[in-house]
Amino acid sequence: MLKGKFITLGVTGGIAAYKAADLASKLTGQGAAVHVIMTRSAGEFVRPLTFEALTGNSVSSDLFVSSPGLKMPHIDLAGQADLVVVAPATANILGKLAHGIADDLLTTTLMASTCPVLICPAMNVHMYANRAVQENIVKLAGYGYHFVEPEVGRVACGHFGKGRLAGTDTIVRAITGLLQSPGDMKGLTVVVTAGGTREPIDPVRYITNRSSGKMGYALAEAVSSRGGRVILISARTALKEPPGVELVPVETAREMHCAVMSHYPKADIVIKAAAVADYRCYREASDKIKKTGEKMTLELVRNPDILAELGAKKRDGVTLVGFAAETSQLEKNATEKLSRKNLDLLVANDVTMPGAGFGSDTNIVKLFFAGGRVEALPEMDKLSVAHKILDAVMVIRNTNK
Ligand code: CTP
Repeated sequence: MLKGKFITLGVTGGIAAYKAADLASKLTGQGAAVHVIMTRSAGEFVRPLTFEALTGNSVSSDLFVSSPGLKMPHIDLAGQADLVVVAPATANILGKLAHGIADDLLTTTLMASTCPVLICPAMNVHMYANRAVQENIVKLAGYGYHFVEPEVGRVACGHFGKGRLAGTDTIVRAITGLLQSPGDMKGLTVVVTAGGTREPIDPVRYITNRSSGKMGYALAEAVSSRGGRVILISARTALKEPPGVELVPVETAREMHCAVMSHYPKADIVIKAAAVADYRCYREASDKIKKTGEKMTLELVRNPDILAELGAKKRDGVTLVGFAAETSQLEKNATEKLSRKNLDLLVANDVTMPGAGFGSDTNIVKLFFAGGRVEALPEMDKLSVAHKILDAVMVIRNTNK
């Protein structure tokens, strides 16, 4: 996926420097030309030879030492790069960058870079929480630097909390997103719904469905990486919202209905990936229902169909995308839903197929366009599916202009 891309990888001096070797290896494996800059402190933790062996390129660490192809290392490593990544990024590099200090090869390269820069902080829990560090991050985000936040967990010094370098796969996904996305969604506001709603029966029970929310969250991440503003209206999931996304948590279909309707006026695109319960209990019991006879009946009433309501009052310039999880007659159900709900695009999948079901990390979908065209996509991870859906949305918007 990264074939032909030039990535400059800055490695600074934290214990997580050893994880940068895995990152360099994965990026190289995906076809990128990876050129590593190590700070002096990084050299205390890992040897340049590790990165040279993994990337096939020499490692630079001295501002004044040129090498073949790098006459002025800081200018060349900045100028040739499609992306600069700093992983791990210590409190020190964040401080220097936020204050315009350029006193070594990595800081001068960062200062001379005009391509996107992705920073992956990793440090002791208390250092990360330190006000100066947090203020530097806010300042750098304001300058346009991209971040992959550290994870919560046990850090090398034994403390537990936020500070552990994000996983290699998370960083690779952020890199792929930045390199693939042409910023084509800048200026667009996208409402994404995700997760399965919960309809209470009594104070301890509810009706829900198997939706994990992964597809909706992948869409939110993809929109955000393409420069769009994301309002993620999410029923309960086990997922963490992607950075830069405005999360509106909801529980029931009616709460989702209210949230979607209140955000709809500012939306350019609405993507309804949520699995919304079609029915709720007619009366939610205020006390826990006690078991009585052998059978019991719950009386259910229809929930509002949020997407159908949006379709009925669709404004010019708004693109509506719906989802359909089917177990049979996919084509027939999908085309019927597309026209009944007045959608521009319907993403349908047969949830009985392996690799396409609820909770899976991959999906196999068919895109049904309002004009009648159908595009079948192969099995892909959900972030790639999300980008394909967004590509289709942007084509629809450009052709409707
Ligand atoms: N949807 C919605 N509000 C509902 C039900 C569904 O907005 N009350 C949206 C979903 O988010 C999804 C699309 O409509 O984008 C399709 O949902 P689905 O339940 O499959 O379609 P239905 O029209 O409810 O059809 P059926 O239950 O008959 O399959």
